[in-house]
Amino acid sequence: METIIEKLAHTHDLADSELKTLIETDKFDKELFSTADAVRRQAYGTDVYIRGLIEFTNFCKRNCYYCGIRRDNCNAQRYRLTKDEILECCDTGYSLGFRTFVLQGGEDEYFTDEVMCDIVSAIKTNHPDCVITLSIGERSYETYQKLRIAGADRYLLRHETATEEHYEKLHPKSSKLIIRKKCLYDLKQLGYQVGSGFMIGSPYQTTENIISDLRFLQELKPHMIGIGPFISHGDTPFANEPSGTFEMTVRMISILRLMFPESLIPATTALGTIKKGGREFGLSVGANVVMPNLSPKSVRKKYSIYKDKICTDEEAAEGVAKLRKSVEKAGYNVVTHIGHAKSYISNKGESDA
Ligand code: 5AD
Repeated sequence: METIIEKLAHTHDLADSELKTLIETDKFDKELFSTADAVRRQAYGTDVYIRGLIEFTNFCKRNCYYCGIRRDNCNAQRYRLTKDEILECCDTGYSLGFRTFVLQGGEDEYFTDEVMCDIVSAIKTNHPDCVITLSIGERSYETYQKLRIAGADRYLLRHETATEEHYEKLHPKSSKLIIRKKCLYDLKQLGYQVGSGFMIGSPYQTTENIISDLRFLQELKPHMIGIGPFISHGDTPFANEPSGTFEMTVRMISILRLMFPESLIPATTALGTIKKGGREFGLSVGANVVMPNLSPKSVRKKYSIYKDKICTDEEAAEGVAKLRKSVEKAGYNVVTHIGHAKSYISNKGESDA
C-alpha cells in the first residue's frame, strides 16, 4: 500500500483529512523530508538561487497586528533609502554575483508610481541582465501595470491567511482579504512571476486555516511560495503571543515542495532566526532559495518586522562567501544565474510556441 507521503508525491494533493494528519503529527517527518528533498533535486538539482534583498523603506501606512513596522509602532526608527543608495546596493550585489534584486518595503506613499518606476527602470538600465522583484504591498492594477512596463519581473505578496475570519484577527478592518487576493490575480494577469505565502503559527491559526492556505495556493498557482514562522515583536499588539515553531515550519516547507514541485521556496530569514542553521535545514527539506540582505548596514536593524531578526555577517551580502560554504556543507550549491521557476519557463515556452 502506498504511504500518505508517496501519494502526496505522486498526485501533488491529498484529502483535507489526510493533510490534517500530516500537518499535526511528526511521525511522517522523516519520510516527508527525504521525499521532499528528492523531488527538489529532481526539479532543481542541488541549485540554490540567491536573491539580493534591499529593504528600502520601513515607513508603512498599514497597521497589521503582527508586524514590527506597522504604522502605530512609534518605537520604529523610520528610514528611506534614496534612489542612489538603492542603485549602489544593486551595484554591490551585482559584483557579488546577484542577478535578482528584491526591493522590499512597507507601504510608503513617498514611493509614488513615478518614483518607483524611475528606480526600477534605472536598475534595469544599469543591469539589463538582472531580474527585479518588487515587494511593496497592495497597489492598483494600473500601478502594477506601470511597474511591469518599467521593468519589474516578479512580485512578492503573501496572502497571510486565506480564511476571512482569521484575516480579520490579524489585521485592522481597513485591510481586506478580498483585495489582497485581487492584487495577486492582477499581478498574475500582468505577467509577473508571483510569490505568495503565509506565516506558520500566527496567532489564532488552526490546521484548518493552513489547509485553506494550501487550497488557495493550488488555485493561485504562484511561482514562488514564501513561508516562515510568526515571531512575536514587542512593539505590536501580538507582543505576548507565542511564536511559530521551527518543526512546523520545516514540515510545511516539505509539504509545499511535494504539492508544488516546481515552485521557488525560500529558506527564509525568519527560519534562520528561530534556529541556528535553520535556513540550511530548510534547504535540505525542500527549499531552494535564500535571500541575503543587501541593504546598507546602517539600516538593517531598523527593518525590524519581528524580534531578533538575524543580520549577522552571513546574512549580510559581504558574507556571501560564508553563505556559499554553509550551503555547500549542507550538500547544495549557490548559483548566480537568474533562477526562474521551472513552471514559469515551461509556461513561457508554451506561449512562445
Ligand atoms: N513574524 C514573522 N513574519 C512576519 N511578517 C511580518 N511580521 C512578521 C512577524 N512578526 C511577514 C509577513 C509579511 C512578510 C514581509 O513578513 O508575512 O508578508
